Amino acid sequence: MTVDGAPDAGGRTPWPGVRTPLPGPRSAELLARKDAVLNGPLRDGGNVPVVLGRKTGHVLEDVDGNVFADHLSAWGAAPYGAQPRSVRAAVQTAWDRYGMEIAQYLVSEPVVALAERLVALAPPGITRAAPSVTGTEAVEAGVKLARESTGRPIVLGFLGQYHGESTYLTAAASTDLPGNTSNNAQYAPGLVLVPYPNRFRAPFHRGPGPYDDTIYLDYLETWVLRHQVEPSQVAGVLVEPVAGEAGILAPSAAWWAGLTDLATRYGWKIVLDEVQTGLGRCGEVFAADLWGLRPDVLLLGKGLAAGGQPLAAVLGTEEVMAGSHAHLGGTFAWEPAACAGALAGLDLLTSGGVLENARSMQRTAERVLGPLVEEVEQVGDVRSVGGWACLELVTDMASIAPAPAFQHAVHRAALRRGVLAISEPDKPLYRMQPPLTMEPELFEWSCEQVADAVREVAADPPEEDA
Ligand SMILES: Cc1ncc(COP(=O)(O)O)c(C=O)c1O
Repeated sequence: MTVDGAPDAGGRTPWPGVRTPLPGPRSAELLARKDAVLNGPLRDGGNVPVVLGRKTGHVLEDVDGNVFADHLSAWGAAPYGAQPRSVRAAVQTAWDRYGMEIAQYLVSEPVVALAERLVALAPPGITRAAPSVTGTEAVEAGVKLARESTGRPIVLGFLGQYHGESTYLTAAASTDLPGNTSNNAQYAPGLVLVPYPNRFRAPFHRGPGPYDDTIYLDYLETWVLRHQVEPSQVAGVLVEPVAGEAGILAPSAAWWAGLTDLATRYGWKIVLDEVQTGLGRCGEVFAADLWGLRPDVLLLGKGLAAGGQPLAAVLGTEEVMAGSHAHLGGTFAWEPAACAGALAGLDLLTSGGVLENARSMQRTAERVLGPLVEEVEQVGDVRSVGGWACLELVTDMASIAPAPAFQHAVHRAALRRGVLAISEPDKPLYRMQPPLTMEPELFEWSCEQVADAVREVAADPPEEDA
């Protein structure tokens, strides 16, 4: 695609190519320096054996001159490529004009314009917006609003979802197994977690017959609401429309209808965490649009920054937000240049072929990666929604036990072929999260490299630790 995010300065995006062992010498030196000074989780034991040298269009170049297709997109925060020209110009113009300013006290036009634009784009019923800097803060604000507007204490969340790194949200974010948190798991009062639909690792089975994820709601109603929590004490449900960190899991329309029914019946607010799914990742402006959801609160982050300055947003209905006394935001929330960059990003999202490109990525991933499930024993599942694809790698289909050594080997083999995607030691998921503007040829080529990497590793699979 040649939307604004494509190659910088009118040049061509270089094609991926790896010419040194990984890490290359310069990367190795910087990684050693990093490991000596950065804190625990950032010492990743060589999981990402490259150091960024520069970013152009849809590729990343390391400090040794190796070039990789970018399947991180800054974890979704750079959805239009490395330096989208219109975003850069908007950020710079606003900064030249307004400098840094605190929107909560002294407003400027980009702040007002962004609020208006987000409300106009949002699902029906959303009338208000509030500033935030990070997704974590936006989700915290969503929880505050649900509690404030209902006067109720309990929040229902979903096992395996990720919402951020504050103490409260780390408790809500159970993507990491307790064993991986090194005695640092957080437990927050007023939070009740229930399973989220997962067809591949389904915690509930109804016996033979088609998969039906409304059984998760039966469990919620029959067990949790009867034995654990009084429905009238629940302020709201905190939910990702498609679970991202848990591995691109999308519930059925029937599940959404059932959850919405429960929310209506008991007066719960639906707090939709679209920090990762929102603004095109799922092939629609909001993942809520996939099912026509009508959230009370909708949270945005990541892609809202459009690769420019950091910002996030809290959107809500008149009922939840108009009379709220909650102080949301902070010093840096919606500084004018960030708002101007976000507005330029929304122009890219809504005026180009970005959404269609994301949908075509899904079709490509299904066509190129999908058949691996039949072909390779260790590919347990392939899931894709819009510009997101994920492989769940297992030791064998009978046990579907995670295969971290196999996954790591795939990650390394893909890197050697020039694809840098997401593979974390503690998660049985290999994920591709490209910029939504990635050229179709580069995306298809990347999927082919990943498929070849899987085949290479499957030909001589590594031993898994017992
Ligand atoms: C669904 C979801 N919510 C919230 C967050 C937290 O956002 P941030 O890292 O900007 O605090 C993330 C981050 O990955 C996320 O995926």
